[in-house]
Amino acid sequence: MSHFMHSPLAGKHIVLCVTGSIAAYKAVQFARLCLKAGASVQPVMTKAAMEFVGPTTFSGICGKPVLHQMWDGGVTSGEVHVDVAAKADIVAIVPATADVLARLAHGRADDMVTAISLCTRAPMVLAPAMHPRMWESAATQRNVELLRADPRITFAGPTTGVVASGDDGMGRMLEPEEIFACLERHLLSGDFAGVQMLVTAGPTQEAIDPVRYLGNRSSGKMGFAIARLAALRGANVKLIAGPVELKTPFGVERIDVTSAAEMRAKVLEHASASNVVIMAAAVADFRPAAPSPTKIKKAKGPLPTVALAENPDILAEVGASFGPSKPGGPFLVGFALETGTDEEVIAYAQQKRERKNVHLVVANHAAEALGKDTNRIFLVDGSSVETLDPADKTTLADILLDRIRARL
Ligand code: CTP
Repeated sequence: MSHFMHSPLAGKHIVLCVTGSIAAYKAVQFARLCLKAGASVQPVMTKAAMEFVGPTTFSGICGKPVLHQMWDGGVTSGEVHVDVAAKADIVAIVPATADVLARLAHGRADDMVTAISLCTRAPMVLAPAMHPRMWESAATQRNVELLRADPRITFAGPTTGVVASGDDGMGRMLEPEEIFACLERHLLSGDFAGVQMLVTAGPTQEAIDPVRYLGNRSSGKMGFAIARLAALRGANVKLIAGPVELKTPFGVERIDVTSAAEMRAKVLEHASASNVVIMAAAVADFRPAAPSPTKIKKAKGPLPTVALAENPDILAEVGASFGPSKPGGPFLVGFALETGTDEEVIAYAQQKRERKNVHLVVANHAAEALGKDTNRIFLVDGSSVETLDPADKTTLADILLDRIRARL
């Protein structure tokens, strides 16, 4: 999945504190996600946590012995918790019990987890897991309020759902992937906070009959990467997605569509309330003029022909209403998927930018882009062309967002 490509967690040192909840087994998966993203992980466990998952599992996965006691009989010099706290780029408590929230809220330092938490100056992410009645209790809510007042602390969850006892309510821990996304977001600058962003992604499918369609090879990966990174950087993202096999990025509002006409309706509905519109979708230029309501059958005689009608150009329509010549509208970004030499691809993009009346066009070669995890792109605006070296689509999305941010 995309979060294994390029993550703000790469190269970071994470202190993963596991406390005593049934959800502790999910911390194993969370540790793996951090490691796959290129982070190093120091596991720390409370005594209660070790009743749920053996320390060997965490030390095996993380490649470091689990820290679980403050005292080692004078074997090491100095204080382990001070050293661990100082080296942490981030401290994640997964799962965080009601008990650890209480102890953190009151600045206790009565075990390795709380001592490190009290000592560190690194950002902290807490993923609570407890029975709904424990979460809703006045005491826990008081403690959560105290902890939220600390700008270094972020809560990842909890959410509603069935908890270990079989009861249903608020208190269920987020899934490891979701906690991981919260961690990534916490490390980023939040420079898109308050920005309303509309992204389109993937192909469109134009019905020939109830069984067949006209489509294209777009995978949606670039648009999804842009939506994911923008949400991590704080934007409020609506992602209008054609039919693709991709997971909805964390924190993104996804609107599924099939045809260009459906995509057009959704884009026009949301464009005027957006600060940035990025049309990464490969919209079909043509559709069958009169799709058959029933399956077209093989028959003797002349072969069936499919007459085509032109689809509306969604980007050009948005450009005509809000383009660069009309100040106050959203910042408009189009994509140009082309074949030819670099010079030809850039020239097509320049023409497209003017014809569709948008601020920026991202130009790329079909052979380098379609279905791939990597790409090479040119950013073409009214006065310049910037070439971005080949990279994974997440990295390119991040750089594209840097350039958009600078122009907002
Ligand atoms: N686009 C759109 N509506 C369409 C076709 C394209 O909004 N009906 C948008 C795409 O999302 C993309 C950009 O326009 O951002 C590039 O479209 P493209 O099809 O490459 O451009 P065309 O104008 O169709 O030019 P060409 O002759 O190269 O097909």
